[in-house]
Amino acid sequence: MAGGAGYIGSHTAVELIGAGYDVVIVDNLSNSEMRAVEGVRKITGVDVPFVEVDCCDIDAFRKVFEQYEFDSAIHFAASKAVGESIHKPMLYYRNNLTSLMNLIDLMHEYGRHNIVFSSSCTVYGEPDKQPVTEQTPRKPATSPYGNTKQMSEDILRDAMAAYGDMKGIALRYFNPIGAHPSALIGELPRGVPQNLVPYVTQTAAGIRECLSVFGDDYPTPDGSCIRDYIDVTDLAKAHVAAIGRMIGGSNKERYEVFNVGTGRGVSVLELVRGFERVNGLKLNYKIAPRREGDIMAIWADPTRANQELGWHAEKTLDETLASAWKWQQTL
Ligand code: NAD
Ligand code: WQD
Repeated sequence: MAGGAGYIGSHTAVELIGAGYDVVIVDNLSNSEMRAVEGVRKITGVDVPFVEVDCCDIDAFRKVFEQYEFDSAIHFAASKAVGESIHKPMLYYRNNLTSLMNLIDLMHEYGRHNIVFSSSCTVYGEPDKQPVTEQTPRKPATSPYGNTKQMSEDILRDAMAAYGDMKGIALRYFNPIGAHPSALIGELPRGVPQNLVPYVTQTAAGIRECLSVFGDDYPTPDGSCIRDYIDVTDLAKAHVAAIGRMIGGSNKERYEVFNVGTGRGVSVLELVRGFERVNGLKLNYKIAPRREGDIMAIWADPTRANQELGWHAEKTLDETLASAWKWQQTL
């Protein structure tokens, strides 16, 4: 798992181990801490191997292939802050693309077969129609980060078309939130959180004074933006299904794409009120101007993942918001 010590990677490691897979976590800890690896070990009772490697350094990365036999890899190893990517585009292009290209090259060179890639609903931009299916056209990316996701999908598609013995699956995540119910792993945002739920939990904890709800004048039922919030443990299970599909040979094409979302659009205000209700607290929030670059609404049509991967989002939003708060209280 390249980038396996991160938020989604650590939860995926737990689910893969629970499903009987052996896992090796590879990460340069540029946006994560050993605490996540230790959490995975505690939850699973398995002494999961961890290798500190920058996946952009192909010689260092190669050692993982020399040392471990594995047939499948997941690429999480990317920088993910949309705003930062606008100011530091070269960092994003270099890190996100080089780490993926190195992984593909090494998998090919060592005769390894299956790659799952962390894509994002950001590839759809502002969609004309809801919900979005995998056939919904990708819009031109509005940030270097978004562009790396589009380019990475294309790189994986083209490489899989050229290498007859390899398969790839791109999972387009919607908005992952929440934490493992044990509260031993969760999201570790650095600095001021840019994403909604970490900002909400930090406000509830008194670390931030007040949540700004970015816009209540959108043409949506309550005026705030709508997203498809997917529980991170549910999202993790989609990776187990994707790996199983490729190993089992039930994939129809050598490169496939799946939306990973709940199929339910939830507004910012609904989420805030849900958080207050489920956790029995009052959140200090105010309505603020729209955030530049935000899209108004997007939610997934997950039918293809439901049917082809046999995967469904299971957790309720209430359960997920409770897990997010439980995790925040450990920080
Ligand atoms: P994260 O930052 O918690 O995890 C990414 C991990 O990759 C971190 O542990 C980081 O240290 C590591 N990493 C980065 N560059 C590396 C490199 N060159 N070599 C080795 N390790 C490296 O982020 P996350 O939320 O877990 O996201 C995982 C993936 O999912 C990313 O590709 C991200 O773009 C994608 N994604 C995330 C979201 C989201 O909202 N969290 C949504 C859609 C897609
Ligand atoms: C969600 C909603 C905000 C913070 C980003 C990336 C996307 C993907 C997921 C990786 C929006 C509102 C937020 C706050 C708020 N990541 N909000 N106050 O913007 O949907 O997507 O993360 O691929 O690429 O762009 O997620 O959590 O930032 O925002 O009102 O303090 O919450 O306006 O409507 P977003 P988010």
